[in-house]
Amino acid sequence: MSDKRILLIVGGGISAFKSLELVRGLRKAGIAVRPILTAAGAQFVTPLSLGALCEDKVYSELFSLTDEAEMGHIQLSRQADLVVVVPATADLMARAVHGLANDLATTVLLATDKPVLMAPAMNVRMWDHAATRRNFAQLQADGVQMIGPVEGDMACGEFGLGRMAEPEEILAAILARLAPLARPLTGRRAIVTAGPTAEPIDPVRVLTNRSSGKQGFAIAGALASLGAEVILVAGPVSLATPAGVTRVDVETARDMLAACQAALPADIAVCVAAVSDWRPESVATTKTKKTVQGAPVLSLVENPDILATLSQGPARPRLVIGFAAETDQVETYAQAKLARKGCDWIIANDVSIAGTMGGDDNAVAILRKDGIERWPRTSKTDVARKLAETIALELS
Ligand code: CTP
Repeated sequence: MSDKRILLIVGGGISAFKSLELVRGLRKAGIAVRPILTAAGAQFVTPLSLGALCEDKVYSELFSLTDEAEMGHIQLSRQADLVVVVPATADLMARAVHGLANDLATTVLLATDKPVLMAPAMNVRMWDHAATRRNFAQLQADGVQMIGPVEGDMACGEFGLGRMAEPEEILAAILARLAPLARPLTGRRAIVTAGPTAEPIDPVRVLTNRSSGKQGFAIAGALASLGAEVILVAGPVSLATPAGVTRVDVETARDMLAACQAALPADIAVCVAAVSDWRPESVATTKTKKTVQGAPVLSLVENPDILATLSQGPARPRLVIGFAAETDQVETYAQAKLARKGCDWIIANDVSIAGTMGGDDNAVAILRKDGIERWPRTSKTDVARKLAETIALELS
């Protein structure tokens, strides 16, 4: 971890003193910590103790001429591998949700292109307030990773949810976040299907659908970043191949199945593709023309089910995962698919929500034979990262 850098924002809450213990743990792990202390944070810890433990200058002022000359606020946010907010107070979270930039901490949160991890801490009533719950959910949806809060005794004498996670727990989350280095899927092979299929009607026309391929490509990339050897079997989409992924481009469902079977054996199969259920029974060899007899009638036949074939085939990957994009009765249909296809997990998502199909966000639930886990709406990249981590855990 000696090449890793954290930008640590210390907010104004009684648990700010625990940030000092976190800094000690980070420094012990060889991680460089550059501190930002908010004005409220400085009411709880002194710049002197924070700076001494970080062995770095403490940044507090947005409009400091010397700080800006040495290290502009945009630079501050760019040089870190991870931005950590400890404690994330109700006020800091509320300002971050709205993209306010009225002090150095919020400006950095707005300007950063690095992952952000927050450890919320506040009084139980403040935590329970609808505004905080909305802000918390929105920050998660924006891709912020939350650690805690936990239940316990509070400095104000009350008991409940709102207590900050312990420094060891925050440290563990930071180390895990910084550790694509650990690459837990090294030595595993994964097949991912993505995008739509296109079933020819004649030389110029196809039957296809609106799948963008974004979620499947993100999953292929996330599995590769955890060390897996990934074969991405992609229908016709114009997306860049994620780093470290081997891509096989196909058009039809039958080609997609053949490419998947050629990629076996594998430890993991994730079928994200929106495979066309049917294809025209026969493909015209020349362009179909308009005639006085009226519109042609398309006769369709069913395509092979790639997910079911991989799930039930002889070289079954150890973990087979399907997707269920539904517009209604999402979890009921997904449950039925889990049983029918014979896969291990179904990731259900509601594509009736505007912006899901073709968009950048997704709200999914993971259905397993023994239960269901619902994830809050977040970016497709974040869904992919969490899914890859869940897969790594399952296979560990
Ligand atoms: N799937 C597949 N091959 C097919 C159809 C679907 O591999 N011919 C996979 C998809 O990649 C997805 C899962 O099966 O992982 C569910 O796809 P979906 O289209 O939702 O299910 P269908 O079986 O087509 O069921 P229905 O159309 O009735 O919803």
